[in-house]
Amino acid sequence: MSITRRETLRLGGAALGALAVPGWAAGATRTTQAAGVTPASEVALELVAATGPSVVAGQTATLWTYNGTFPGPLLRWREGDRIRLRLVNELAESTNLHLHGLHLPAAIDDPFLDVPPGGSATYAFDVPSGAAGTYWYHPHMHGRVARQLFAGLAGAIVVDGPSTDVPPLAEAEEHVLVLKDISLRRGTVAAHTPFDWMNGKEGDLVLVNGAWRPQLAPTRPLLRLRIVNAGNARYCRLLLEGHFLYQIATDGGLLESPVRRRSLLLAPGERAEVLVRLRRGGTFRLLNLPYDRGRGMGPHGHGMPMNLAPVLDAGGEPLLSIRTPHTIGRGALPQTLVPIERLAPAATAPLRRFVLSDTMMGGFTINGRRFNPDRVDERGRRGDLEVWEIENRGTMDHPFHLHTYSFQVLSLNGAAAEFAAWKDVVNLRPGDRVRLAVPLRDFGGRTVYHCHIAEHEDLGMMGVFEVT
Ligand code: C2O
Ligand code: CU
Ligand code: CU
Repeated sequence: MSITRRETLRLGGAALGALAVPGWAAGATRTTQAAGVTPASEVALELVAATGPSVVAGQTATLWTYNGTFPGPLLRWREGDRIRLRLVNELAESTNLHLHGLHLPAAIDDPFLDVPPGGSATYAFDVPSGAAGTYWYHPHMHGRVARQLFAGLAGAIVVDGPSTDVPPLAEAEEHVLVLKDISLRRGTVAAHTPFDWMNGKEGDLVLVNGAWRPQLAPTRPLLRLRIVNAGNARYCRLLLEGHFLYQIATDGGLLESPVRRRSLLLAPGERAEVLVRLRRGGTFRLLNLPYDRGRGMGPHGHGMPMNLAPVLDAGGEPLLSIRTPHTIGRGALPQTLVPIERLAPAATAPLRRFVLSDTMMGGFTINGRRFNPDRVDERGRRGDLEVWEIENRGTMDHPFHLHTYSFQVLSLNGAAAEFAAWKDVVNLRPGDRVRLAVPLRDFGGRTVYHCHIAEHEDLGMMGVFEVT
C-alpha cells in the first residue's frame, strides 16, 4: 500500500508542540484558517501506546501514553482526509483504539478488537463529510478501559470542514483543552481502589492538556475553546470569571446559533465548543464548580464526597487562568452558525427502551444485564430512524454513549430539547428519562452503547447493538 503524501509536518507539529512548552501544550493551539483553502489529503500516522516517563503537572511520572505525551498528540484532520492510523501496542497488556464520536463503520472503529502486547492494528478510513467538530480517542478494550484511560491514554481529535470557518469564527483564537484528572503516587499512576470501581475514579490533579492550572495569554479578543472531558468519572461544570460562555458546538459539531451560558456541564466523554468575548484587561480563572453526581456506594454514602468540601468553600477549583492585556479590543459574536437538520421520527418509528441501574446487589447494568461480547442485545435496520428511551433508575448520574451513530435529544423528562444539536453522550441524573432520535445511517455492523464512566463500562454497563 503506498502513501502518496505523508503529513509528517502536520502531525509532527502537533506532537512536538505538545512537548515543547512546559506547562502549556502549544500543539493544542491553532488559529483557524480561511475557508476552503486546505484540500483533503492523505494522512499517515502512528500512535504508540507505551509506558514510560512523561511530564505531567510539571513533574516527571511514569504514565501510559500515546507517543510519550500526556495527553496524546492532537490529531487535526479535515473532512475527506484519507487516514491511515497505525496503533502500535508496546504495553504489557492488550489494548485497542476508539475514535470517539466519529461516524465510522464498526468494522473499522471496532470495540471488540484485541491488539495484543507487541501487536499493531491499522485504522484506515476517510473522515466523513459533515464531521467538522471536536472528538477524542482512547482505548476500548473491555475490562481494561478504566485503568488505561486513567493512566493517560487519551487525546483530542479536531476535524475541520467548511463549517469550521463561518465568519467571525475564523477570527477567533482557538485552543483545544483536554480536561483530564489523574492521581500520582510515588512517581506513578495511583491504582484503583474498590470504591473507585463503583464510583468511578477521580484524580486529585485536574489538568488542562496535562498542565496544572496553566495560564493562557490570548492576543485576540475572541476566544474559541474546544473542550474535551477526557476524565474517567469527573464531571466538569465550567465557569469563567467575569465572562459568559457562548456555546457554539456540542459533541457533533456546530449549533445553529451561540447559546449564552453562565456555566457549562460536561459529563465524561462529552465535548463542547465555546466562544469567549474578551473585553477588558485582567486575569480570569476558568473554574470547575462542584457538582453532585450522586454516590450510591462508598465511604461517604450518598451526596457530596468529602474531598469536594474545600472546593465548595472556594467556589470552584481553578483549571486555568486567562490573562488579557488592556488593549485586547472587542470580539464580535456570530449571530448564526450552521443549519441543523431536525430529526423527526414517525409515530411508527422503531422504539427501544433502556433502563440504567446501579445497585449494591445487581451491579451496573443496562436492562438488567451485564455486557457480554457474544450476545447481541439490540438489533436495528440500516436506514431506520429510531427512538431510544433511556431511563436512569440508579442512584448516580450515568452518561449514556452510543458509538457510530450520533443522535439528537428529543426530550428530557418530557420537556423538548432547548435547541437542535448532534450528540453522542447524554447525561442522565437519577430519575431522568431521555428520548433520543437515532438515525442508523450509511452502514451496519456490531457496535456498543454504554455508560461513559469508564469503571461502569468495564463492570458491564454496556450492550451490543447490531445493525444489518
Ligand atoms: Cu468514548 Cu465507547 O467510548
Ligand atoms: Cu465512543
Ligand atoms: Cu455509569
